[in-house]
Amino acid sequence: MNVLTVDHLRLGTEHGVPVKDVSFSVGEGECVGIVGESGSGKSLTLRAIAGVLPVGVRVVSGEHDVNGRSAMVFQEPMTTLNPTMRVGEFIAEGPRARGVSKADSVRRAVELLTEVGVPDPATRARAWPHQLSGGLRQRVMIAAALAVEPAILLCDEPTTALDTTVQAQLLALVDRLRVERGMSVVFVSHNLAVVSRVAQRVIVMYAGRIVEAGPTSEILHHPAHPYTQALIAAIPTENERAGDLTTIAGAPPDASALIEGCSFAARCPLAQETCRTVLPPTVEVGRGHAAACHLVTPADREVLV
Ligand SMILES: Nc1ncnc2c1ncn2[C@@H]1O[C@H](COP(=O)(O)OP(=O)(O)OP(=O)(O)O)[C@@H](O)[C@H]1O
Ligand SMILES: [Mg+2]
Repeated sequence: MNVLTVDHLRLGTEHGVPVKDVSFSVGEGECVGIVGESGSGKSLTLRAIAGVLPVGVRVVSGEHDVNGRSAMVFQEPMTTLNPTMRVGEFIAEGPRARGVSKADSVRRAVELLTEVGVPDPATRARAWPHQLSGGLRQRVMIAAALAVEPAILLCDEPTTALDTTVQAQLLALVDRLRVERGMSVVFVSHNLAVVSRVAQRVIVMYAGRIVEAGPTSEILHHPAHPYTQALIAAIPTENERAGDLTTIAGAPPDASALIEGCSFAARCPLAQETCRTVLPPTVEVGRGHAAACHLVTPADREVLV
């Protein structure tokens, strides 16, 4: 059974169409990762699902359906936490809004802090946000999200601002909560290596469209789309220093650009004339694995891999 279904979602602003045609679903207890460069439409897609689109962005067409409640965790907890509220009270707001008594809500907040691995939770519940480390603040945000008992947790780059050790701990936490609660997760990051540690399936977005989607191991080991291949080449290996990082030459098109063909054609080393003029169809390249590229067909998939 799907907990989330997104069907041909298209989002518009005054200047353009940052999300053009996005369809995917998330099963019960499944984590789906969304990756793509800055501006590819990851956050807007999540915000549309959570019903918190920023001012100036609207749903043009398409729809989404969530079977249960959703809750969202953002990149920077300090912008979401209330600086004038002790973190326990902040978490307790969720149960309070659902009619739970004040005392029970506070008890629930301490339970949730325990569940997300905050040490000494009863004391920490009385702390102010600025007294906590970045990692603990993000755990508080996750606890606040869990307070609404979501069927699906929508995570928008929740670990990007953290150092790698704390990042790894939070990824492990999200994975544990998914398993223990049977909760579904959508995990957004610009970093494919991060996403692949929590997601069973990965969606690759480029310029407001899904260009490839499939099981995580297929995406990592048999990427079909030249853009996914470039993203994988850009993941630094253990022996590489940050300065050696391979980046993809060029920049993605602006959301206002009118592109008839493949949005990646201008940067694609394999692009042909058709790529510049005709929107590539999405084709199956394996079980549950699809890509939108003129050069990919089920039969000649090996050519690109
Ligand atoms: N509030 C807004 N008003 C108008 N346009 C917006 C707004 N927010 C985003 N956009 C447009 O939508 C595009 C996609 O934005 P989005 O935040 O979804 O990207 P993203 O994939 O999350 O990128 P990042 O990795 O930088 O977070 C932006 O490049 C911008 O053109
Ligand atoms: Mg974003």
